[in-house]
Amino acid sequence: MSDMAKLELDGKTIELPIITGTENEKAIDIRALRAQTGYVTLDNGFMNTGSCESKITFLNGEKGILRYRGYPIEQIAEQSNFVEVAYLLNFGKLPNQKELDFFNEKIASFATLPEGITKIIDQFPTNSHPMGVVSAVTSSLSAFYPEFLKTPLTDVDRERAIAQLLAQVKIIAAYFYRRTVGKNPHRSHPSLGYASDFLNMMFYEEGYEVDPEVAKALDVLLMLHADHEQNCSTSAVRLIGSSQANIFATISGGIDALWGQLHGGANQRVLEMLEAIQEDGRGYKKFIEKAKDKNDSFRLMGFGHRVYKNFDPRAKIIKKACDTILERLNIQDPLLDIARGLEEEARKDSYFVDRNLYPNVDFYSGIIYKALGIPTNMFTVMFVLGRLPGWMAQWKEMREDPTLKISRPRQIYTGENLREFTNIADR
Ligand code: CMC
Repeated sequence: MSDMAKLELDGKTIELPIITGTENEKAIDIRALRAQTGYVTLDNGFMNTGSCESKITFLNGEKGILRYRGYPIEQIAEQSNFVEVAYLLNFGKLPNQKELDFFNEKIASFATLPEGITKIIDQFPTNSHPMGVVSAVTSSLSAFYPEFLKTPLTDVDRERAIAQLLAQVKIIAAYFYRRTVGKNPHRSHPSLGYASDFLNMMFYEEGYEVDPEVAKALDVLLMLHADHEQNCSTSAVRLIGSSQANIFATISGGIDALWGQLHGGANQRVLEMLEAIQEDGRGYKKFIEKAKDKNDSFRLMGFGHRVYKNFDPRAKIIKKACDTILERLNIQDPLLDIARGLEEEARKDSYFVDRNLYPNVDFYSGIIYKALGIPTNMFTVMFVLGRLPGWMAQWKEMREDPTLKISRPRQIYTGENLREFTNIADR
């Protein structure tokens, strides 16, 4: 097969190279298109646009495949842990014990926040949405670590940024949570392990001990969220990072993109939807009808995915983890029955079947977070903690690429043509 695509335009034929990935994914390389033809491409929502080449995550939505650096998500969830996954995503290989210990030590060296940062957190009203707080405070870190404002960063700087953000964003999240419930902050103890340390910072009180099964469940959730190639927030991170903005501003932008309800914000919305169904008391069928009604903006939250058109492999693992953790904690959550019923009903309904709409990663995760005691408005923050290693790996990969160009799409202008400016008195 030819490795060039032919395009006929204005009576001319031009050839565009075909790029093939290691999993045989194909793309037409249009980098020369505008120079050769004067045309640009138009692709609302980037449905057909590959924004980069990447070695980090492979995803096949038709077959429901997700792999980090070649390793299947199912094996990762079963055998790895979150810090190891962060290392894998960022450094391209599974660490040996010495490398993992060193990485853990590096993370542990950032187990406190600068005093100025805690003072900033203290200024937020306790009813602020934690996503806004985490985003703003992450961006504020740039004021306290000006050494990261220089460019280019060295390899050592980049490695430090990764460890530092892994350590500090979870402290920011837990610190703010404790304020909202009127408790003094509890310090980070990295030796507990990533998930246990977070749970301990959140819920510590006299006699509290983290249940290792609970910590394991959280660790699995974090691993499942760790990367998802060029999704909305990761694309935001790459876009912002391409201007060589500092790492804190860049990650803060990713957090903001994740907040939206069509992306990470869906996990909060799922739980609110399940609660609304419970409160309504008339069963989930009414909500399915609402979701199908084109005159109603309501969507079944936690359903559908831009890329997965078969099933979301993460949702499968999470559904199982949900059963395990509720049983372990001896919790009977009626919301789980509603979720199961909703899924069963939707998967029989031709509207959802024809459009390949399946439960996504956000559908069952909220029920687990709720069981772990995480408040609903912090669900998307949990997604932030999970996605951090992926954002940083994508940022690192991009910044290490010597061919990096600033992301700057074109547009097709559809506004007014040239016209004369009129004085305010004449309008
Ligand atoms: N409920 C009802 N209808 C839906 C839903 C839904 N959840 N999702 C998609 N559709 C319909 C949509 O109305 C459209 O119908 P039609 O072809 O008749 O116009 C069709 O399915 C295709 O939808 P789309 O909006 O063009 O698909 P997309 O790839 O642009 O959007 C999505 C993907 C995830 C934004 C969308 O499925 C959605 O809004 N889901 C609910 C929010 C959600 O759960 N988001 C989390 C996504 S997974 C985790 C993450 O990314 O963070």
